[in-house]
Amino acid sequence: MRYIAIVPAAGSGSRMGGDRPKQYWPLHGRPLLWYAVETLVSVPRIDAVCVVLSPEDTEWDQYDWSPLGSKLRTLRVGGATRAQSVANALSQLSGDMSAQDWVLVHDAARACLTVQQVDALIDTLSDDPVGGLLAMPVADTMKRADDGGRVGETVARDGLWQAQTPQMFRGGMLIEALRARTDVTDEAGAIEALGLRPRLVAADVTNFKVTYPQDFALAERLLATRGK
Ligand code: CTP
Ligand code: MG
Repeated sequence: MRYIAIVPAAGSGSRMGGDRPKQYWPLHGRPLLWYAVETLVSVPRIDAVCVVLSPEDTEWDQYDWSPLGSKLRTLRVGGATRAQSVANALSQLSGDMSAQDWVLVHDAARACLTVQQVDALIDTLSDDPVGGLLAMPVADTMKRADDGGRVGETVARDGLWQAQTPQMFRGGMLIEALRARTDVTDEAGAIEALGLRPRLVAADVTNFKVTYPQDFALAERLLATRGK
């Protein structure tokens, strides 16, 4: 049984704006995407890290990725949605993968992931029948907006968690789940649609997804405190 990471990086970063997809915005002299991949290749139990690129990607080849070592490979099979990008990658990998292998899907945009967070996920789930995901219990009071930008209602936060990545499921189960449902925003959503219950593994706010321009400065500062 192996552990394989898939990093979807075929999005356009529309909420970030700018002249290129956010995964290639420069951060301490390297593209944002570098940092999540660097963490994943540094996890001893992970055998391969597969970055999913858009077939139209012209940025990847402009960088030297060789310092990240031989675990790294690229799949130019990105699709119209994140779920489609992951499904395409799994189809491409299915020939060299056993159904029992664990697949960890991680957003390229979660640049501040740590080896410790990945180790905690693997330690918790390696004997789990379903798999699961890093997530964080909601701390703030939750409001649902009405059409006019006012509070329509307060939503009880009891039991609410924010889903993060990596999300870790067995390869065979994940392929089946994503074939059945590509209208989901994460892998857990597809597994839930099979009637299964992914385990929530507590992470923290440092594993946030760089989405808006102001998030970029935060990631830069956080990585600087780690000497990056
Ligand atoms: N992603 C992908 N294929 C897509 C859409 C998204 O591989 N068709 C990837 C992104 O590159 C990112 C991750 O999925 O690493 C999470 O998506 P998100 O943060 O929403 O990135 P974008 O879709 O690029 O950004 P936006 O939604 O603001 O356009
Ligand atoms: Mg998106």
